[in-house]
Amino acid sequence: MSKKKLLAALSVAALLSGLTACSSTRSDSSSSSGAGASGAAGGLIGIAMPTRSLERWNNDGAHLDDLLKKAGYTTSVQFADNKVEQQITQIENMINQNPKVIVVASIDGTALSPVLKKAADAKIKIIAYDRLINGTPNVDYYATFDNYQVGKLQGEYIVKTLGLDQGKGPFNLEPFAGSPDDNNAKFFFAGAWDVLNPYVKSGKLVVPSKKAPATNDDWKSIGIQGWSSQTAQSEMDNRLNSFYAGKKVNVVLSPNDSLALGIEQSLESKGYKPGAEWPIVTGQDADLANTKNIIAGKQAMTVWKDTRSLGDQVAKMVDQIVKGEKVEVNDEKTYNNGNKVVPSYLLPPIVVTKDVVKEKLVDSGFYTADKLGL
Ligand code: GAL
Repeated sequence: MSKKKLLAALSVAALLSGLTACSSTRSDSSSSSGAGASGAAGGLIGIAMPTRSLERWNNDGAHLDDLLKKAGYTTSVQFADNKVEQQITQIENMINQNPKVIVVASIDGTALSPVLKKAADAKIKIIAYDRLINGTPNVDYYATFDNYQVGKLQGEYIVKTLGLDQGKGPFNLEPFAGSPDDNNAKFFFAGAWDVLNPYVKSGKLVVPSKKAPATNDDWKSIGIQGWSSQTAQSEMDNRLNSFYAGKKVNVVLSPNDSLALGIEQSLESKGYKPGAEWPIVTGQDADLANTKNIIAGKQAMTVWKDTRSLGDQVAKMVDQIVKGEKVEVNDEKTYNNGNKVVPSYLLPPIVVTKDVVKEKLVDSGFYTADKLGL
């Protein structure tokens, strides 16, 4: 199929997927019409999410959609199935509908410069959602959790739980990193590796697979494309088959829950049992399956990012932009996207372990006790 035909097909697919995705938010209300068909109140806001295949993005899209519609905006929520070209086409289609703001959780933060130039030419403001968009001046704001802190919390949890500062060790560690096209992944890894690498260098943490990046910049060498659980599972299978004859892994640095799920499935398939021999496995996002694994003793912790508060903050920023008010940010130093330091709002991530699952995730209404089998 010629590139032209492929792009045409993609445009139709994106348009159709956009329309179908629009109506299938968690609230199951139509997302292409907000307050009144004309969408007069507030105008149109675009919401471009990366995929529905990872749980959190469904929640992010649905919550933000609900908030903006309740505030009187019309919305167009689209999910791009982790396909960069599809996301670009979806954003182009949004631009053609002349929204006031487009909120973008990018798949590849380096691939959007041309389409965001079109948005800027049309005077449309862009908020990067959760993942920074790089290599373009046409990103107006960024809203996220403190990504470096996410990794730091994972690293600190490992050090504390193993008792590395109390003379314990050595322990066998297998480190993983996130998707090489996700700007967040380098911050997650840097936060964790700044804590853990000194223990690797001192021999307190041993990496039998030798997949220990020498520096933070080498994180992509252990990156898992698309945050795929299946890829993480195969990688863990390979490491256990190749480097663990007669030995056990004691701790796995997993940057998020989708990787952790695959790693846990690998451990189980190799005969590891929850309890004393089950390694510490870290995670992020408090996905439902992983929260259940934490309760079952198959995951030690997750770094919870209450996506409702991220949505709340972004909805506030949208409103401030549309009303011409000063947009609330709390970080104007950290996130240099190669063209400028993007004014950002960072939210605090929270460690969740088995003993605080109820307090953090049930009492806050993020999950019902019933959903967690509690
Ligand atoms: C990251 C996000 C994480 C994790 C991952 C997988 O960018 O910050 O929370 O979910 O994507 O989608």
